Amino acid sequence: MKDNTYTVAVLGAGNIGSAVISRLINLDNQVINIEISKILISDPDKNRDFDKNLFTADFNEILNDENIDLVIEVLGGIDPGKEYIKSLLQKGKAVITANKDIIAESGRELVELAQKNNTCLYFEAAVAAGIPVLKPLIESLRGEEISRITGIINGTSNYILTSMEEGSDYKKALATAQELGYAEPDPTNDVEGIDAKYKAMILSLICFGVTPSTDGLFTEGIAKATKEDFDWANRLGQTIKLVAIIDNEQDGFNARVFPVLINKKHPLASIRGALNAVVVEGKNIDQLVFSGPGAGANPTASAIIGDVLSACHQISSGQSNWYPLRKPTTAIKSFEQVTSSMFIRLSVSDKPGVLASIAGTLGENNVSIQSVIQEGRGDEAELVLVTHEAPEKDLKVSIDKIASLDTVLSITSAIRVYT
Ligand code: HSE
Repeated sequence: MKDNTYTVAVLGAGNIGSAVISRLINLDNQVINIEISKILISDPDKNRDFDKNLFTADFNEILNDENIDLVIEVLGGIDPGKEYIKSLLQKGKAVITANKDIIAESGRELVELAQKNNTCLYFEAAVAAGIPVLKPLIESLRGEEISRITGIINGTSNYILTSMEEGSDYKKALATAQELGYAEPDPTNDVEGIDAKYKAMILSLICFGVTPSTDGLFTEGIAKATKEDFDWANRLGQTIKLVAIIDNEQDGFNARVFPVLINKKHPLASIRGALNAVVVEGKNIDQLVFSGPGAGANPTASAIIGDVLSACHQISSGQSNWYPLRKPTTAIKSFEQVTSSMFIRLSVSDKPGVLASIAGTLGENNVSIQSVIQEGRGDEAELVLVTHEAPEKDLKVSIDKIASLDTVLSITSAIRVYT
């Protein structure tokens, strides 16, 4: 840094990288001056909108350039980005990344590396893109005991669910999400909750000091949601959202991702289209709600630019931007121990005693029924049950046993109810 001018390199010039570079070139320099000195790309001969002299295909040119203060990693994927970030932090360079996969997998290690080397690591864009949520959680709320985070943190699945709420079927909603560029040609990561899981892993580290393993975080996506589920949800005053829930109640910590029926009056119910929202709960703050665009190049670039300004401000102090990470305050609770309320839709034979056998099976497994609606359809009937909260283990056993009853033709849906 010299005369309030900071020298920056960018790793990657794809969709997000290009948006970041354009923003940096046009940055309002009332705050600081930024000079982009190098851009790492795999093919320097490819035609791009930026000055060709900035391009390099050799990472070491950036790593070993003593003039570079700060490096922005927007390569995507884990390799080689993760090793690049480690080498840069070890050299004491400030790093900004939007890469949720890397931070979910190695966030603790990288934060500790930044602390050890008195340098900066920022990754605001890795969770909920344009919504500034990590900085408030890391800094403003560092003194607060957070009890629960509930987030809609995948824009694609929220777009699909919103379209279904408006009457579309799943396939059509997914096809439109793909046409609009929200969903990838292979939409697995978004619709199966995997993208939300990575973000939940990052929130777990930041808010509770816990690093859940990829396998240890229960994840269920939205691919089974149907129009009938939405019709029922609507009758019950609810809608359906894919949420990540991370809580740290007295009996333990757990993080999970699944679709829920959620009351239409809850702030998350009104988050529509590709937007994201994060609800933070704690003793002194009651409930905070952050919402906004959680995907897309411009919102992601906005978060990165905010990180660039923070990093430049911090660099001159010669200290890491990280407070000590939070320490876990409770043991990790397995998903089987988590309690949930369940909405269960069944197709049954319309005969005497059917409801009694289903209620009996739930009762034998300590699951109590909160409400029942039955609607006849000739010899068949549709039965809709909502249970009181019960441990996931008991709910699973009950549902499996109900499915094997002779009078139960099929379990059409089982969706948790947000409480
Ligand atoms: N594909 C993600 C989403 C954005 O739909 O929210 C990047 O994390």
